[in-house]
Amino acid sequence: MPNAAITGTGVFTPSEIITNAELVTAYNAYADLWNAEHADDIAAEKTAAKPHSSEDFIVAASGIERRYVIDKTGVLDPTRMYPHFRARSDDEPSLMAEIAQDAITKALAQAGITGTDVDLVICAASNIERAYPAVAVEIQQLIGAGGFAFDMNVACSSATFGIQLAADMIKAGSVRAAVVVNPEITSGHHEWRDRDCHFIFGDVCTATVLQPEDAASGAHFKVLSTRCATEFSNNIRNNAGFLRRTRDQMEDRRDMQFMQNGRRVFKEVLPMVSQHMADHMADEGLTADDLKRLWLHQANKTMNSYIGKKVMGRDPEPDEQPNILQDYANTSSAGSIIAFSKYSDDLVPGDKGIICSFGAGYSVGSVVVERA
Ligand code: COA
Repeated sequence: MPNAAITGTGVFTPSEIITNAELVTAYNAYADLWNAEHADDIAAEKTAAKPHSSEDFIVAASGIERRYVIDKTGVLDPTRMYPHFRARSDDEPSLMAEIAQDAITKALAQAGITGTDVDLVICAASNIERAYPAVAVEIQQLIGAGGFAFDMNVACSSATFGIQLAADMIKAGSVRAAVVVNPEITSGHHEWRDRDCHFIFGDVCTATVLQPEDAASGAHFKVLSTRCATEFSNNIRNNAGFLRRTRDQMEDRRDMQFMQNGRRVFKEVLPMVSQHMADHMADEGLTADDLKRLWLHQANKTMNSYIGKKVMGRDPEPDEQPNILQDYANTSSAGSIIAFSKYSDDLVPGDKGIICSFGAGYSVGSVVVERA
């Protein structure tokens, strides 16, 4: 069986940035408008006034300083509070396919191959732009790939789950070159009007090229082992779906956007991920001393510090566990791949590390790699 290798990665980063200061100004203006509209109910204690958000809280609670988004004007408009994307005809590339093509082009260039060499495209993301045809099939056509393509969604773990699928298919010999692409337009399903979470997300797209190791033409990472796990939880949930109309739920409802019980997520996901990584390492005969780097899911700085400490048995040095969330915020499944893409070139042959993502489901996926 051929070994699978990661031969290229690419990142599409939107050009627009929202700083915490801009975000908080917009949120507070929205809250003031809402409070004025509901002044009578607030005075009669029928509803509570919306308190202001604060930059200090955001940085202290999450480590996030700014985020990239595809459209900031809609998000920062206190009378709107979500992005404004122009409508596209069915003959134009969809938005997810367009940003996927950008990230894939960079990843293919690094791998030294072209779209025609690709025979599997997996579009793995926490929300897919439409029900069908699969966005992955559209991407397959845009990059000139053959073979087959499909969409999949395991929320924030979509990238590592996609890598496991692609690596397994390469090992089985059913595909020769695979692209796992994560177009995460989180701004579309985020609830920018909820103070508890309005700072969490940003937009991005990452792509990872996988090939049999003997086909790699340049520097690459061997995929030594992958492991995925899921356990049902309602603590991160989004109820938007195709049955919405049948349930007469077409109004502007809070539960049709991202919802989370942040404290419970924090408490329950940390032990799950730490144990998952410890078990994966033990089964591969790896100890902390064998690891040069951890590329973790980028949701919360304290969470990453906790997991890094559990895995390494000490506080990891900043270069052992690079964070990108201060600049990108949580980009769902793309976060660990941004970290890997930006902070892996300096590793030398024989260096090992783990890419790990986790989130809704609950779900956790880990990929042990070695620089070749
Ligand atoms: N500005 C100012 N104050 C705020 C605020 C904001 N934007 N949002 C909440 N607060 C207040 C709360 O009202 C609360 O006040 P109280 O103590 O008087 O009740 C206090 O800050 C603490 O709120 P809490 O929600 O408990 O904060 P937290 O420390 O748990 O941090 C998260 C919130 C979301 C950053 C944190 O729970 C987290 O990261 N969870 C995991 C998130 C995650 O990984 N999600 C995965 C998504 S895929």
